[in-house]
Amino acid sequence: MTSAMDRGILLIGWSGQLGYELERHLGVLGAVTAVDQDRIDLSRPDEIRTMIRSVRPGWIVNAAAYTAVDVAESQPALAQSINAVAPGIIGEEAQRIGAGVVHYSTDYVFDGRASDPYPETAPTNPRNIYGQTKLEGERLLAASGAPFLVLRTSWLYATRGKNFLLTILRLAQERPELRIAGDQTGAPTWARMVAAATSAILARLVAHSSPAQYSGVYHLTAAGQTTWAGFAQAILDQYPASEFGRLHPGATLRTKQIQAIATGDYPTPAKRPAYSLLSNQKVWETFGIALPDWQEQLRLALG
Ligand SMILES: NC(=O)c1ccc[n+]([C@@H]2O[C@H](COP(=O)([O-])OP(=O)(O)OC[C@H]3O[C@@H](n4cnc5c(N)ncnc54)[C@H](OP(=O)(O)O)[C@@H]3O)[C@@H](O)[C@H]2O)c1
Repeated sequence: MTSAMDRGILLIGWSGQLGYELERHLGVLGAVTAVDQDRIDLSRPDEIRTMIRSVRPGWIVNAAAYTAVDVAESQPALAQSINAVAPGIIGEEAQRIGAGVVHYSTDYVFDGRASDPYPETAPTNPRNIYGQTKLEGERLLAASGAPFLVLRTSWLYATRGKNFLLTILRLAQERPELRIAGDQTGAPTWARMVAAATSAILARLVAHSSPAQYSGVYHLTAAGQTTWAGFAQAILDQYPASEFGRLHPGATLRTKQIQAIATGDYPTPAKRPAYSLLSNQKVWETFGIALPDWQEQLRLALG
């Protein structure tokens, strides 16, 4: 296969929180053609095929997805076309031109009944449409025959875009009290860490004569664990003295203490796994990559 150094990288979904970070991290590997939904709508197979055939990249990195977990329950067909069908078509086109694919998936492919971190080999059983469609996307990409990596991450956030961190900061300015689920356990992961790790992994693959031998699913999340309530409290505690907080001097947080509630006290359209910690042993053993603890990542993200 021609390396990304020669044919470059097609980055799909650069306007998302992960895509934005990827655009900044992949450039060290070669030329990056970054496209957003205006240039490639993943619900339109013809647009995917046309774009890949015209750019003819050495690698395709797909950071685009239908990520509105609750809305997906009422838009299953659209979620299916973007999260499941599209990765399969990307894989088919990659196979056709001899390219590799990096794709992202989620901890929500698991049902959350475990009590130890899930390895990649653990049985999947998604509890919602988003998780079901993401899982099918993994399978269709794997079946395409193209060299591929599926990087499953969790509770992704950044200081831009739409995510839990920014939602908590907005709500904490508006309200004196915030009630957040304290009975779902996971690992909040900063998008920049996933982008940097992706770049390091791809650097290994493009230098390798047969990258297909690394094809497979890898878990890539922050170390450590917390709950949504624990994550929210850490955000409130760290924000005022952080660089990010100093950049927004008018943003006074009215909420000081998060009230942890049971998931059942705040029903949402999509069910979520109660426990979705992922074991990162495989990515460590294969690529020597381990992401920092979630609290350290939050400290770095807020600055
Ligand atoms: N967010 C999380 O908590 C989380 C957790 C685990 C795994 N993941 C996975 O990580 C990856 C990155 O997620 P993220 O949080 O960075 O997502 P995000 O911020 O919600 O961004 C999603 C991206 O997908 C694009 N997109 C949506 N519909 C599209 C379509 N029909 N055609 C083309 N592009 C489309 C969006 O474009 P617009 O800006 O134009 O809408 C945006 O660029 C995804 O595979 C996601 O499933 C996310």
